[in-house]
Amino acid sequence: MKQRKIILDCDPGHDDAIAIVLAGNHPNLELLGITVESGNQTLEKTGRNALHLVQYLKLNVPVCKGVPYPIIREVEVCDAIHGESGLDGFDFPQLEINYDQRPAIDFLIQTLTQSEEPITVVTTGPMTNLALAMRTNPKIIENIEEVVLMGGSFTNGNVSPAAEFNILCDPEAAYIVFTSGCKITMVGLDVTRNVLVYPEIIQRMEPIQTIASELFVKLMNVFNENQKKVFGWEGAPLHDPVTIAYLIDQTILTTKYVHTEIDISHGPSYGRTNCDLPNYLHLEPNTYVATGIDVEKFWQIIEAGLKRY
Ligand code: BDR
Ligand code: CA
Repeated sequence: MKQRKIILDCDPGHDDAIAIVLAGNHPNLELLGITVESGNQTLEKTGRNALHLVQYLKLNVPVCKGVPYPIIREVEVCDAIHGESGLDGFDFPQLEINYDQRPAIDFLIQTLTQSEEPITVVTTGPMTNLALAMRTNPKIIENIEEVVLMGGSFTNGNVSPAAEFNILCDPEAAYIVFTSGCKITMVGLDVTRNVLVYPEIIQRMEPIQTIASELFVKLMNVFNENQKKVFGWEGAPLHDPVTIAYLIDQTILTTKYVHTEIDISHGPSYGRTNCDLPNYLHLEPNTYVATGIDVEKFWQIIEAGLKRY
């Protein structure tokens, strides 16, 4: 099977970490690079976490540092869930690798303009890097096969009644991407809140005994504790890896192609992804919105991913 070329733009982050695990060595995916931005923690911390993950998992993938701030808003980190480091719960060996010399925006532009084949961009953090790359060189849009994002919700948000964290961190960036004309698949809270890392899931993955399963178990224990403190849930929603699992096996998601608009007005719904599922507005669809997920198939993909290390 032909490998699908992808770039992963992220803010690790416990669930971003597992997205990197899945994307790092799947035979159907070619991970061309990881770009990072602020989100779950400051850029310094998310960048460091990405480097740690790449080194620990022995991936041969460039890590490019993105912009430290959203386009308009101030940085707002999510330390209540991801901790002081952004990836609390695992002690990585001393860091011996460094960033690629190219800043994330240059990397995105260079890779997308020079590739003979279209590339899929997966975002599991705020969409700042991708939006700024699109504005800097709009030609890249032609060579994006698909943008698959973890973000948004057509029901409630998780940081305001209306908005999900990744979108609310940088609504203007999301607006730019959603109006770019690219094929967009939105993996929102509506589906990611169904894949909860209950203790039984941790027990299922523990006997795998690879470097990846060790990472999974330790990170998910802390992720669960924090999610319980903040949201009162027994199992943390493993949001970000759903994007990669979808690229591995598209049948895990049900999607609906609808018009979606990011609210960038500064009212109570700032950062909301308004997905017109009932087609009230009769506007041109622009987004494949995930509406359903095969939960067991998702865990099978995670299980197989942890075994591959
Ligand atoms: C998203 O917010 C972050 O905290 C997670 O990493 C995920 O990308 C969920 O709202
Ligand atoms: Ca994330």
